[in-house]
Amino acid sequence: MSPSILEPLFDLDDLLTKNGDQRSFRNGLAGQDILSVSQFDRTVLDYIFARAREMREMVAQVSGVDLLKGRVLACLFYEPSTRTSASFIAAMERLGGSVIPITQGVQFSSVSKGETLPDTIRTLEGYSDVIVLRHPEIGSAKVAADYAQVPIINAGDGPGEHPTQALLDLFTIQDELGRIDGLNIAMVGDLRYGRTVHSLTKLLIQYDVSLRFVSPEILRLPLTIMNQVIDAGKDVRETHNVAEVIKNADVLYVTRVQKERFTDLAQYEEVRDQHEITPELMAEAKEKMVVMHPLPRVGEIHYAVDADPRAAYFRQVKNGMYIRMALLAAVLGRA
Ligand code: NCD
Repeated sequence: MSPSILEPLFDLDDLLTKNGDQRSFRNGLAGQDILSVSQFDRTVLDYIFARAREMREMVAQVSGVDLLKGRVLACLFYEPSTRTSASFIAAMERLGGSVIPITQGVQFSSVSKGETLPDTIRTLEGYSDVIVLRHPEIGSAKVAADYAQVPIINAGDGPGEHPTQALLDLFTIQDELGRIDGLNIAMVGDLRYGRTVHSLTKLLIQYDVSLRFVSPEILRLPLTIMNQVIDAGKDVRETHNVAEVIKNADVLYVTRVQKERFTDLAQYEEVRDQHEITPELMAEAKEKMVVMHPLPRVGEIHYAVDADPRAAYFRQVKNGMYIRMALLAAVLGRA
């Protein structure tokens, strides 16, 4: 490990108070739950992004460090996940910590015996320093946080929020285009159930952006969130047609129609293929723009688009690990 990297990154002396209490670090995220993006202002976002860039540099140079040695993360996923769970696990391990992974099927845990969320949380907090939770119900992360003494990180509460995804999405926009202010951002697909869209929109209204929302009628952005956009005075428009927005878009944020949220599958079939990003459509877009997607995709972006340098979704995936490294370090008071 190179001291030239470790010194500026991890000289914690000025961050620690005399008694070493985890909650009294100058870093305001120490000991905090991460439930909604509403808790982040631009100063905190800049702080997390700066730490994430340091994490990227550190991984490139030395792969991992011992910053969180001895700390344990419990990953509790009641819904499927590839990227979110894997990147949290990789993030914790690259920082020297370890993981209790209840990610590949709570059916093998006592949840299948009927254990409640509060009891499962109160059990896991006895073994861990931080819990990452994904659950199908809106507000479940808040419930968990009400019971837990250790920080809860919301990794998706049904169609509610997905704050850590929004952090990595915003970080990617800044990384790819060098700024956020002044951009025209179009969100496409399932804006109703897509929790990543909800969280990202709430973050973006803190910036000087124009927002375009493209969806089938039944999958429009929820009114509560649209009202926040309007109250923030943003230039905003809704449409059903991607072709109308692609020419001016700096960011095209594409999402999957969330099949698992539909009670009527016939309705899902009607809207599933309404928006597809093809090379022909990309020919209409600006030369300097980015196409993003939280993934998984199920046909919304054609594979032929992947070779386009503007396709940023796999770079976006990688950023997820750096953001989650920064966040874990901050929440555990080691940033
Ligand atoms: C998203 C999710 O779970 O909300 N996936 C992710 O975390 N990268 C998007 C989705 O499932 O469509």
